[in-house]
Parts: sequence; C-alpha cells; structure tokens
Amino acid sequence: IRDALADGPLAGRRIIVTSGPTHESIDPVRYIANRSSGAQGAALAGALAGLGAEVVFVTGPAQVPPPPGVKVVPVETASEMLRAVQAALPADAAVFAAAVADWRVSNASGQKMKKNAGGLPVLEFAENPDILATISRMASGRPSLVVGFAAETHDVERHATEKLARKGCDWIVANDVSPGTGIMGGAENQVTLITAEGGEAWPRMTKEQTARQLAARIAGALA
Ligand code: CTP
Ligand code: CA
Repeated sequence: IRDALADGPLAGRRIIVTSGPTHESIDPVRYIANRSSGAQGAALAGALAGLGAEVVFVTGPAQVPPPPGVKVVPVETASEMLRAVQAALPADAAVFAAAVADWRVSNASGQKMKKNAGGLPVLEFAENPDILATISRMASGRPSLVVGFAAETHDVERHATEKLARKGCDWIVANDVSPGTGIMGGAENQVTLITAEGGEAWPRMTKEQTARQLAARIAGALA
C-alpha cells in the first residue's frame, strides 16, 4: 500500500543505503568497533524515503534507530554487510555511509578467551572486503549512481578526491571528523561533495539538513 501511494521525485526508485559501524568479533563476547553513531546514514535514508524512494537500509549496530519507512537489514560485520548489499541489488543508486571496519580478526576465538590462559592475547588481522569499491566496479548491474563517504582528519579534499578515483564511485561526500570539529558523534555536519567536476563545500548544518540536500541532489541525478 505504501508503495502504491508513494509519491515524490524518487517514487519507483530503489536505493541501498549502508550505515553505522561494523563489529568484528574477537571472541563470542568481545569485538572491535568504531565511533560511528549511524546518525548521518539514518538521516539520509529517511530523507530518500521522504522523496518517495524504496530504501533498503543495511545497518551495522548503530546508536540511533533506523528511520521509519525503510526496509531495515541489520548486519554485524563487514562481510555480512557486503552480502546484504549484494542481495539487495539491483538498485538505481547505492549510498555507502557505513563506517566499515577495515580489518577483521583472522584468529578470532570460538570460545571466550581466558585471562589466565598464560600470556597476553595476540590478535591477527585480515583486510575486509571493500563494499563501495566492489559495487562501483561491478561489470554489469551496477547502480547508475554510487556514492561513497570519506571521513578524514586532514587534507580532506585531497584524500577524498583520491578515494573517488581509487574506488570508482561517482560521488564522494567528504567531511572533516577531527576531534575539534565535534562532527563525529555530533548533531551537525559540514561536507564537501566531490564529483567528476570537482569539490563543492556545503555550509555547516544539521545532519538532517545535510541529508535532505544530498537526497535532493540524488533525485536530480536520477531524474
Ligand atoms: N567502505 C566500504 N567498505 C570498506 C571500507 C570502506 O564500503 N571495507 C566505504 C565507506 O562506507 C565509505 C568509503 O568506503 O563510503 C570510504 O571509507 P573510508 O574508510 O574513508 O576509506 P578507506 O578506503 O577504508 O580508506 P582509509 O580508511 O584508509 O581512509
Ligand atoms: Ca576505512
């Protein structure tokens, strides 16, 4: 019924949004995580749904709840997130707002590690799949618009422009998350939208406002 009633510039469009951190197991009770709250991804998914899109929201264990009106696919690890994104295809656009763990623990223990087992634990790591690069470089069935995020602490535009080329996506939403900015975990964001045409610095505003502007740009690109 919702779909039949859906209206707006993104009606009939299917968009995948990844969001939140991922958790990578050390043992059954411990994991490696990061400080992503999932706020910007949730706001973006809500804004896209508000413009009429059918949104598949693939989310790691975030601090903020998913928005109403989206299909929520909860995942824990980067590998699960990749599989969930692939299962959600085909899509008109995919936006990768998740803070995916770059590494997983390759010698994770199936049992709780014990303190008195003798010596300190040594964790070994393997690189996680790059979900954004994998989808950007699909030979067939690639979403027509693929958008990545780049949270940087220095040389933001340079790093983000390099990322755009390295991953093969269409846009990168770059932001400066160095501690002084208060953006990581905060209510506001200040992003620079990097496209093939170059960088466009947006004013600092709430994450909801940033989400609405980005959703409008995505609607324009898919129109
Ligand atoms: N990303 C992804 N899968 C990964 C790592 C990152 O899909 N395994 C996506 C993120 O969701 C984001 C973009 O790639 O949209 C950039 O993530 P970022 O961590 O900034 O880039 P990395 O290539 O991992 O580089 P680094 O962390 O070294 O800056
Ligand atoms: Ca990374």
